[in-house]
Amino acid sequence: MFETKPDIAGRTEIETLVNTFYDRIRTDEVLGFIFNEVAQTNWTTHLPKMYAFWETVLFRTGGFTGNPIAAHAKLVSQTPMGRAQFDHWLQLFRSTVDDLFAGERAEHIKSCAADMANVIYARINQVPDPRFDPANVTPEQRARYARYQQPAA
Ligand code: HEM
Repeated sequence: MFETKPDIAGRTEIETLVNTFYDRIRTDEVLGFIFNEVAQTNWTTHLPKMYAFWETVLFRTGGFTGNPIAAHAKLVSQTPMGRAQFDHWLQLFRSTVDDLFAGERAEHIKSCAADMANVIYARINQVPDPRFDPANVTPEQRARYARYQQPAA
């Protein structure tokens, strides 16, 4: 018998994903203290902000208007925010998605998270964006970037 998981259909699934992810983050031994102690996150406001963020990413609705680069740049002087922290964040995000959902949007949200983790990591640490390291560009990214480079009609 195999179990079939639903895909992410809309706001309801996004809320479930975000709630489950941050339940895990809060008690995570690597990242928990960054929220609980360093940023002293107000979960009552942070969770709805994250519902809006992911709804905006996935469905272009949700009305997210924050500034993720600034929010994470602020943390750099207070706590390590290096590749190890971002890789751990991503691992936790991917496994949370996989525990709950399966399908096209589940795959899409994981790849958006990976792209954004790369951008945020690179910007706040002032290192070159790893997406643009030719050694790491996937065939899918190569095709997508080639389309951007075509002159506008
Ligand atoms: C090392 C990894 C990460 C850590 C430790 C971290 C931690 C934090 C903290 C402490 C905040 C502020 C919460 C508050 O208001 O108290 C925050 C905000 C936020 N984070 Fe992260 N984060 C990480 C990675 C990511 C990634 C990869 C994404 C996107 C895929 C992301 C998306 C956001 C967004 C959208 C906000 C709200 C920004 C705003 O207020 O405008 N975070 N994060």
